[in-house]
Amino acid sequence: MSLPSSRISLSALLVAALTACSSTANSARPTAAAAPAAAAVGAASVGDPYVPGDGNGGYDVQHYSLDLRITPKATPELTGTATVTAVATGPLARFDLDLTGLNVSEVTVDGRTASYSRSGSELAVTAPKPIARGGRFAVRVRYSGNPRQIDDPVLGRYGWLPTSDGIFTGDEPSGAHTWFPSNDHPEDKASYDFQITVPRGLTAIANGIQTGTTTAGNSTTYRWREDAPMATYLAMVDVGRFKVRTGRTPGGVPVYVAVDPSVIATTADKLYDTTSQVVDAWTKLFGPYPFASAGGVVDNLQVGFALETQTKPEYGPAMGADPTTIAHELSHQWFGDSVTITRWSDIWLNEGFATYAEWLWGERTGGPSVQAQFDQRYRQTGSPDLWSVPPADPGRAQLFGRSVYERGGMTLHALRQKVGDAKFFAILRAWTSEHRHGNATTPQFIALAERVSGKDLGGFFHAWLYGKKRPTSW
Ligand code: ARG
Ligand code: ZN
Repeated sequence: MSLPSSRISLSALLVAALTACSSTANSARPTAAAAPAAAAVGAASVGDPYVPGDGNGGYDVQHYSLDLRITPKATPELTGTATVTAVATGPLARFDLDLTGLNVSEVTVDGRTASYSRSGSELAVTAPKPIARGGRFAVRVRYSGNPRQIDDPVLGRYGWLPTSDGIFTGDEPSGAHTWFPSNDHPEDKASYDFQITVPRGLTAIANGIQTGTTTAGNSTTYRWREDAPMATYLAMVDVGRFKVRTGRTPGGVPVYVAVDPSVIATTADKLYDTTSQVVDAWTKLFGPYPFASAGGVVDNLQVGFALETQTKPEYGPAMGADPTTIAHELSHQWFGDSVTITRWSDIWLNEGFATYAEWLWGERTGGPSVQAQFDQRYRQTGSPDLWSVPPADPGRAQLFGRSVYERGGMTLHALRQKVGDAKFFAILRAWTSEHRHGNATTPQFIALAERVSGKDLGGFFHAWLYGKKRPTSW
C-alpha cells in the first residue's frame, strides 16, 4: 500500500524470474509454477491506515530473540543481534522487516548470508533460497547505532528515550522498530527473550520473568523471557539504577517492581503494594491473570504517558505514584496485552476498558461512583471531542483522544445499564477468556455481548461507538 511502485515492479520481476526457473527445473509440480509471482514477495506493510508502513506481509513471527548491548550516552548506544523466527504464510522469496535508522552490518536467513536493502523504515531481505509456504525460518540481523526518538505532532515524544542514568522505551504505537527489526504491528504477536548487557552498576529490565544475570569485567548481562504472545508495542527495555522488590501477590501472582531511587513521589514498596492489590482485584473481576508475572517500573523521566508494557507497565514519577494510573495500566494486561487489537482504529478496546477500570478502582477506594463518572461526562453536551469523534474509528489524530478513553468507558457503562451487572461482568470475562493471548476486533466484541446477553445490540453499539453525535436513549 505504501510501497513505492518502482520497488514493487523490480521485486515482481525478480520473483517472476525465480518462479520461471523453478518451474522449468521442477515441471512435475505445476501448482508451484502456477503460483502468482507477487505472492513470493511479502508486502511492505499490513495496510493499517492509522500507521502507514507499519508491519509487513508474507510471514508470521513466532519468536524474537534480542541480544542487546546498551551503553547509555555512548555512541553507539545500542549494538544488537535480533533473531526473528517466523513461518512463511505463502511462498516467500523476499520480505521486509520494519527498522528505522541504525546501521545494519549483516543479515542471515537460516545461517546463510542474505542480501538486503534499506529504504525509509523498511529493511528488505532476499532469502538465499525461497522459503516454501509454511516453512519456518530464522532471520538474524546484526545492527548498531543510536536509536532515534520519535517526536510525533499528534502522539508526542516516545520510543527510545534517554534518562539521567540510562534509557527508557515506550513504543505505542510505532516505536518498537526504532530499536529492533520487527514486524511492527499488533496483529503479529510473538514470544520474546532478551539478553541485555549494560555497564556494571546499572540494571536492565525487560518483559516477563528474569532467567539469569551474569557479571563479567565491567558489564552485567540480564536475561528476561516472555513466553506468552506479545505485541511489538508492548516490548520494553528499561536501563538505569533501580530499587527492586520481588514477591507474590496474596493471590499468588509473582511480582517484580523497580523504582528509580531518585524518584521522590513513590517507592518500590508503594508500587509493590498497589500493584499486588490491583492484580488480585482485577483477577477476581476480569478472570485469571494472563501472564506468568506482574509488576511495574517507575523511571525518572517526564513523559506524557504511562504504558502497559506486558507484565510490567512503565510509569514516570507522577503516574507511578497514582493508584488510578496503576489500576488503568494493569487492566490493560487483560484488555490490550492478552486480548490485543487487530487494527489501531479499535483502540477503544484497550483504552475504553482501561478507563472503565479506573472508574471501578476509584469507586472501590472512596472516589466518585462509576455512575457519577458517567453522568459528569454525559452532561458535557457541548464537547465535540467526545460526541463528534466515534471511539471505534477516531482517526489517527484522535487515537489517544478523549473519545477513545472516556466515551469508550461510557459505552461500557451504558452497556452495563442495558444488560445488568451479572451479564455485563460475564461479557468482560468471556471476552478475556475467549480471546486470551489473541487478537480481536470491535465486531467480535459486539457479537460476544449479544450472545452473552441474548439481546440485539447492533443499534446500541452503532450509536455509542460509530455515531458522530451524543446518544440520547438506549
Ligand atoms: N496506552 C497508553 C495509556 O493509555 C497511552 C500511550 C500513548 N502513546 C503515545 N505515544 N503518546 O496508558
Ligand atoms: Zn491506557
